[in-house]
Amino acid sequence: MTSPDDLRFRSAEAGDAAAVAALHADSWRRHYRGAFSDAFLDGDVAGYLLAEWAGRLSAPEPQARTIVAELEGEVVGLAHTRLGEDAAWGALLDNLHVSYGLKRLGVGTRLLALTAQGVLDSSPASGLYLWVLEQNAGARAFYSARGGTCVETVAVTPPGDDPARLNGSPMSLRFVWPDPSRLLPTEG
Ligand SMILES: CC(C)(COP(=O)(O)OP(=O)(O)OC[C@H]1O[C@@H](n2cnc3c(N)ncnc32)[C@H](O)[C@@H]1OP(=O)(O)O)[C@@H](O)C(=O)NCCC(=O)NCCS
Repeated sequence: MTSPDDLRFRSAEAGDAAAVAALHADSWRRHYRGAFSDAFLDGDVAGYLLAEWAGRLSAPEPQARTIVAELEGEVVGLAHTRLGEDAAWGALLDNLHVSYGLKRLGVGTRLLALTAQGVLDSSPASGLYLWVLEQNAGARAFYSARGGTCVETVAVTPPGDDPARLNGSPMSLRFVWPDPSRLLPTEG
């Protein structure tokens, strides 16, 4: 029996690309269907994400931060952030995903807290924001529970800027934390 106490969190390395991409693709297939096209999710999503992660992790940009959660040597969560992405809202949490079988055990909360800590360490006055699909009720509930505020709704930008990877015209919501310190763990 595994326990959340056995979790380890660390910065991602180049050798994590395949495992991170596989977790990301599985999560998109489970949670983004309806917004992303079936042709993309059942086709080249894994290859698209593997190329994306191989590039990101082999030559990390100075403003990029990727944290992975590990359980018994297996990647079970990921959080990827771009510092200073938006002049008004601050750092962009571009991706946050937890293995399907480990949801609702606090992994996402811990990844969000570590993300906030990294943002504040780099730029103490920075805010944090992200985009979440309108249809993604679970993630929206999670961000609201973590104190995020929805400030606007816009059309989704397709993966790789390819409109064929979307199903119709899905919308995404911008959630913001002007003060990311509220995401840090509290004592006790
Ligand atoms: C959204 C996600 C990252 C949250 O991570 P998690 O580890 O499951 O969340 P936590 O266990 O830390 O959740 C803490 C609290 O958030 C809220 N919450 C989390 N998921 C929820 C859901 N599906 N429905 C309602 N509330 C939810 C609850 O208040 C929960 O506390 P509780 O379980 O005691 O009720 C994770 O569920 C996930 O990977 N989902 C699929 C991918 C995804 O949608 N990513 C976000 C893209 S923007």
